[in-house]
Amino acid sequence: MPTRYVMAIDQGTTSTRCILFDHRGHLVSVTQQEHRQYFPRPGWVEHDAVEIWRNLERIGPRALAQAGVGPEQVAAIGIANQRETTVLWDRRTGEPVGRAVVWQDTRTGALVEELSHRPEAKTVQERCGLPLAAYFSAPRIRWLLDHTPGLRERAERGEVLFGTMESWLIWNLTGGPDGGVHVTDVTNASRTLLMDLATLEWDEELLAFFGIPRRMLPRIRPSAETYGTARRIFPGVRIAAALGDQQAALFGQNCFASGEAKCTYGTGSFLLLNTGTVPVRSAHGLLTTVGYQIGEQPAAYALEGPIAVTGALVQWFRDGLGLISSAPEIETLARTVQDNGGCYIVPAFAGLFAPHWRSEARGVIVGLTSYVTKGHLARAVLEATAWQTREVVDAMNADSGLALKTLKVDGGMTADNLLMQIIANVLDVPVERPMAVETVSLGAAYAAGLAVGYWPDLEVLRRNWHRAAQWSPRMDPRLRTEEHVNWQRAVERALGWVRP
Ligand code: G3P
Repeated sequence: MPTRYVMAIDQGTTSTRCILFDHRGHLVSVTQQEHRQYFPRPGWVEHDAVEIWRNLERIGPRALAQAGVGPEQVAAIGIANQRETTVLWDRRTGEPVGRAVVWQDTRTGALVEELSHRPEAKTVQERCGLPLAAYFSAPRIRWLLDHTPGLRERAERGEVLFGTMESWLIWNLTGGPDGGVHVTDVTNASRTLLMDLATLEWDEELLAFFGIPRRMLPRIRPSAETYGTARRIFPGVRIAAALGDQQAALFGQNCFASGEAKCTYGTGSFLLLNTGTVPVRSAHGLLTTVGYQIGEQPAAYALEGPIAVTGALVQWFRDGLGLISSAPEIETLARTVQDNGGCYIVPAFAGLFAPHWRSEARGVIVGLTSYVTKGHLARAVLEATAWQTREVVDAMNADSGLALKTLKVDGGMTADNLLMQIIANVLDVPVERPMAVETVSLGAAYAAGLAVGYWPDLEVLRRNWHRAAQWSPRMDPRLRTEEHVNWQRAVERALGWVRP
């Protein structure tokens, strides 16, 4: 009997989800479980990798049960995961060495600052495509090796393994201490600061620069390839894809051609542009990253602009200021006014990511007068997401030499129609939202399905993409320019707000 479904595991920052898709890319069943966020000190963010594994043990079988099928009806599993989050574990027992250090964690700031003064620091971005920043995995591995007694010696003896969340899950699914497969995929490896972007292999000089023993590292594999067969939770099912969640969304949005871009709007937002089979080095503050690699085909590269705070600003407006009681109310409140009343908010809560990469920047609200109401503030909250997107798009256009023609969007914030209109207005390009908004899971499922022949080729996947809504720019160009200048002035204030 032919297998009916492909399963995606989306291991995200706040929750883990299991989703079954059918041949048309339709969602058949979905289960989800949140995990605890640990904030042991200011700027520190941790997850319990065992809790995440146990959550998968709970929700995986439930997703199958909901669809009324057993594992033999699943052609393959694809994993999409929160990127850069670092977990170390004992090869023999499978026990994690402490908690996973999450991508939002800034504890390595001082270490990164110190490393950046070394002469070799200049070659880091050239080699791996990333600026030397606390956002990526290598400084976290180094920090853990430095701060856990005896860990470096154990790592050098090959007793400790490193992985991002897909590695951790694949290792456990394929057997854990009883012969688990220790792999990562090119997209996740491209977020470590340790992979040579041209060879797609770990780079000896970068390993030496960060002081990380090679024996800890997983093998780097394509994003779509059978890594092994599950022995736990989904016995007998092939694990056939892994991608960082933002790259999975690029794939799920069918951005298969050079020049196609998507932005996923969540707590933070991540804009990725497919640049084809040659990596484009950024001169404007973007990351060069791997978009995906299907089997032994050449990798597709991407330029990426990560924005640290977008939806998180709406959450702060709700929880920190209490001006709304649910996130969707921001749209209703913002619609009570015509414009921002002269007010701008730059949400540099923990510095600014692309294109600035300034960890010391802090948030500002400027332009306050007694005229400004909470409606204007709500409007400024939405505009902050739009203008941050514009900064990334401007950098992309400058780097790629091409003007973005249209932006595909997905993620929770895209339910906000006013925000989508404002984004189209400030970018001056149409914004498109697909019918299938689960693009992260869909991308992981697509990659796994391609690897095992469940789907034959990219053309078939393209036919599954349907537009649900489109917003065309509707803004007077003069007003756009004026507002852009005001935004830039506000950003200058945030950048200037340096701690003494
Ligand atoms: O780089 C971090 C990103 O992968 C996190 O995505 O959706 O899990 O918050 P998300």
